[in-house]
Amino acid sequence: MRESQGLITAGDPVAKKAAKKLYIESYGCQMNFSDGEVVAAILGEVGYRSTSQSDEADLVLLNTCSIREKAEQSIRKRLAHYHAVKRKNPRLKVGVLGCMAERLKSRLLEEKAVDLVAGPDAYRDLPRLLGAVEAGSPAVNTCHSKTETYAEINPVRLDSNGVSAWVSITRGCDNMCSFCVVPFTRGRERSRDPQHIVAECMVLWQDGYKEVTLLGQNVDSYLWYGGGPKRDFKYASELAKATAMDFAQLLELVAQTVPAMRIRFSTSNPQDMTEDVLRVMAAHDNICKSIHLPVQSGSDRILKLMNRQYTNQSYRRLIDKIRDILPGCGISHDLIAGFCSETEADHRDTLRLMDYVRYHFGYMFAYSSRPGTAAAKKLADDVPESTKKRRLQAIIARQRLHSSMRMKEQLGRVQRVLVAGTSKKNEGEWYGRNTQNAVVVFPKGSYQLGDWVDVKVSDCTPATLIGKAVGLA
Ligand code: SAH
Ligand code: F3S
Repeated sequence: MRESQGLITAGDPVAKKAAKKLYIESYGCQMNFSDGEVVAAILGEVGYRSTSQSDEADLVLLNTCSIREKAEQSIRKRLAHYHAVKRKNPRLKVGVLGCMAERLKSRLLEEKAVDLVAGPDAYRDLPRLLGAVEAGSPAVNTCHSKTETYAEINPVRLDSNGVSAWVSITRGCDNMCSFCVVPFTRGRERSRDPQHIVAECMVLWQDGYKEVTLLGQNVDSYLWYGGGPKRDFKYASELAKATAMDFAQLLELVAQTVPAMRIRFSTSNPQDMTEDVLRVMAAHDNICKSIHLPVQSGSDRILKLMNRQYTNQSYRRLIDKIRDILPGCGISHDLIAGFCSETEADHRDTLRLMDYVRYHFGYMFAYSSRPGTAAAKKLADDVPESTKKRRLQAIIARQRLHSSMRMKEQLGRVQRVLVAGTSKKNEGEWYGRNTQNAVVVFPKGSYQLGDWVDVKVSDCTPATLIGKAVGLA
């Protein structure tokens, strides 16, 4: 085990005798991908080396998502696939991690395709669980923790471009949006010690990374008061209250600690975003001017049923404030079409709100009822699938229009781009993102991965800016 900046880094497992090979397949949100890197670090300590080839693995871990039914269906298909592989290779062990593990618990073991089940708070227990599997017992740990943040673990970067990395800052969510399974699968909201967050950013900087994304289900709700669930803050000592650190303060601390690194964060729940955060963003050039601000619906009646703590009007006021403090800031959204009892009038409210904001981009979904949530228990999933699909298509079409408009605003302008990799469509081009989080592609020339390049935009699609480099930034 090595220690750097107070973080525990897995020793070099390759050097360990007969290293076993671990393949992690992650689905769903960025948080899940980030958790996969924590798991790789924990298992690195007991001799597992990560591989990107599933066919050479001794252990396959499916890091699962339960957010919509479709997500669970695609994981079930992968489980069926590995069930077949296990028949040919009985030594292969298969585990389920993440939200489905938490939701379905030992039911997954009963299906016989799986040797091990570990929920999002149980990853430190993986070495013991694997020991039990080796000894022939089924192994399940889906216990929730009020304090676990894997704070001092330095993740093993998987599938990394060596340029951008995630840094987890909170876990769980207390918001209890009525449609959402996350508070049940990921438990109570808690924040990670800022010392470890800053240490992780410094290690990344020393390792040559140029960009970090601070991650949480609800980053703006970050609150460090010595550890423990956010809900218990009210019981904290006067000293702990007086010295507590909120998200604006953490963001500023990170921006100052790694001043040459680009900083992003996600996700911001509108009800928790403060003006302080916007002011910190404005004060630091290295914080990207882009905010992911899921709105879910433009109808006040639906927002109330969803248990979102803002209204159409207060959301618009927040947008106005962002435009005022951070002119040109990229704003993106998540939207749900066809939530319980949604009418055509509610749907029109959503389209009108989209017209008001003209988002840079968004993630759009048809409502999927999730067992155990308040909506599934108390509200009828009464919008026909065909109507959900039609409304979703209308929302996607409107978003495409707005994305196009936003992209065209950048024509002729110079964008500062961090080169993140080769363009998927053209081997001869780099891709990277501008401060607003838009993808920019340009001919490679003599530029390198990780360079900061100024690119003049000459063309665009609704999703991509196309240009030519004018020089290193
Ligand atoms: N923490 C984020 C959301 C995380 S879940 C927030 O502040 O809103 C990511 C997105 O999945 C949500 O924003 C929502 O748009 C979508 N989603 C969640 N539950 C869903 C469901 N039951 N059906 C359809 N979409 C859902
Ligand atoms: Fe889910 Fe709402 Fe939290 S969408 S992750 S309960 S903010």
